[in-house]
Amino acid sequence: MFAWGKDNITTADLKNGKKIFIVSGCASCHSDKKTSDWNSIKLNGGVKIETQFGDFYGPNISPDKKFGIGAWTLEQFKIALREGKSPNGYYYFPSFPYNSYKFMKEKDIADLYYFLRTLPPSSLPNIQHDILFSKFIRRFMPLYNFRYNFLSPRIQTDLSEGEYLVKALGHCSECHTSRDIFGVPKFNFYLSGGIIYEKGKIKTPNITPDKSGIADWSKEEIVNYLRTGFTPDYDSSGGLMAEVIENLDPLNDNELMAIAKYLKSIDPINDKN
Ligand code: HEC
Ligand code: HEC
Repeated sequence: MFAWGKDNITTADLKNGKKIFIVSGCASCHSDKKTSDWNSIKLNGGVKIETQFGDFYGPNISPDKKFGIGAWTLEQFKIALREGKSPNGYYYFPSFPYNSYKFMKEKDIADLYYFLRTLPPSSLPNIQHDILFSKFIRRFMPLYNFRYNFLSPRIQTDLSEGEYLVKALGHCSECHTSRDIFGVPKFNFYLSGGIIYEKGKIKTPNITPDKSGIADWSKEEIVNYLRTGFTPDYDSSGGLMAEVIENLDPLNDNELMAIAKYLKSIDPINDKN
């Protein structure tokens, strides 16, 4: 059983916490990244996240006690990431990808929590989400989660390294799997391409080993893409994927190879869905 003493920061692996932070892409939605120095990044929020339901804004998750999450306990942080539930008892919208982060290991969540505490506080207030009936719809989040959990494969805790990087940290499926009208992913079409909203509607590619996906890519080509952003045809990646690739920077070649092996091992699915 994993147990922490009272905010015993000296035993946290901050180096691992920083790696989890970068690879999980927290900064992409919680900071407008005016710095490339991950040790002084301000998680002041305010980043717009476009979805089929409207525009969400990442909140302030800096260690400020009033405007950020500085007053949170590790337990509250864990429940937010694993259950999508706030310390005040309400449920988060899935624009916060907790359905991916719930696969995160206990130790990684703790290291991440303690790393976040080393970052500078910000007193920037949160921006209201720009979606219709926000407060009203939030009350239905338990129903969303019920549908999600009912349809989704059971949570496994013994994920291989590559599967862990894809499912828990990289949250690849959030963009590469299509969703139903309720915004719940179509699990039968796992990673076979989805829709994202970034200044309009964009279709994301199929990354299963199907002909319409990455069947023709060697594992080395996948690793190279995840490192440099160049496809085997020397196309370069743009937009949100470029940011994902930046976030994968702390991973070594073996870890990127683990992702490639996992992608090559899943069911090939045709992306006509
Ligand atoms: C794709 C964008 C996105 C990513 C990536 C993301 N978040 Fe968030 N996060 C959000 C949004 C949007 C909300 C607000 C959800 C709501 O209001 O229901 C949120 C809410 C939160 C909250 C609750 C804050 C509060 O005041 O209650 C915490 C804590 C949090 N995120 C931590 C993280 C951490 C840690 C990571 C990285 C492991 C992360 N987020 C990655 C978009 C994101
Ligand atoms: C925020 C959304 C988002 C996330 C998260 C995301 N991707 Fe992508 N991905 C995209 C987009 C958009 C493209 C298309 C990029 C382009 O055309 O330049 C893409 C392209 C790709 C491609 C190239 C496929 C091709 O046929 O060209 C691969 C491989 C890939 N992603 C793998 C991953 C992996 C692995 C992860 C998780 C570690 C991931 N993606 C997470 C949005 C995302």
